Amino acid sequence: MKEYGPTTFGDLHADEYDALHDPGTTDACVDLIAELAGTREVLELAIGTGRIALPLAARGLSVSGFDASPEMLQKLREKPGGEALQTWVADMARFDLGQMFDFAYLVFNTLYNLTSQQAQTDCFQCVAKHLRPGGQFLVEAFMPNRERFENNQAVRTKKVSFDSVLLEAAQHDPVAQTIHYQRIRFTEDGTSLNPLPMRYVWPSELDLMAALAGLRPVARWGGWQKQPLSASSNMYVIVYEKPATEA
Ligand SMILES: C[S@@+](CC[C@H](N)C(=O)[O-])C[C@H]1O[C@@H](n2cnc3c(N)ncnc32)[C@H](O)[C@@H]1O
Repeated sequence: MKEYGPTTFGDLHADEYDALHDPGTTDACVDLIAELAGTREVLELAIGTGRIALPLAARGLSVSGFDASPEMLQKLREKPGGEALQTWVADMARFDLGQMFDFAYLVFNTLYNLTSQQAQTDCFQCVAKHLRPGGQFLVEAFMPNRERFENNQAVRTKKVSFDSVLLEAAQHDPVAQTIHYQRIRFTEDGTSLNPLPMRYVWPSELDLMAALAGLRPVARWGGWQKQPLSASSNMYVIVYEKPATEA
């Protein structure tokens, strides 16, 4: 049986990532990270094809990043300014870049691509080791919504056209906090499958992972425009800080 691993996302999506994965919030995300990071040295975890890192670098920020997928990094390097960024192939649950940064970020639900609590906790530990005192870590992800499931499963019709149908099937495990997605495309040529397993994290659990790594929350929002984080928020943007001096 095939296993979903750290490189699988890139294997499946590198070629069409930019065309099909636009959350519509890129400019707002870049604005907020630029405001928070200022002139400090920045690290993007799971940098992908540079959707956020390249516009930040174009504004003069010093941005580096890593990704598990060599294919995603290759797409980044093919873009204007891509060769100038320092990049590594690395796993966000166990990275050691031999360098320190002042600001790190992990956006677009990508923490959830680590599908166990242990791997997510390890990710925070790695980030803390790469932050200078006073350094910050921003995490953005969707707020889990149980109402999207009936009996912990959901099937949605994503797109119907004359010669194809795109469906999304999802199975939710509220104990493990996992959602296993499968996008199924039917065309005249056959069927294709596109899996995506995720483990979601509530803000309270995120705070605990951060605390275990010695980081404390300094800002929490329900959107890129600094909307308050509330019961009706469908996403969170939370910023953690490594104390400037040891307690
Ligand atoms: C949704 S994309 C986000 C890319 C980019 N940060 C953005 O916002 O456009 C998820 C990225 O995470 C990478 N990824 C998945 N698992 C990873 C892991 N364990 N370590 C590092 N990168 C990983 C994928 O290769 C992919 O580039």
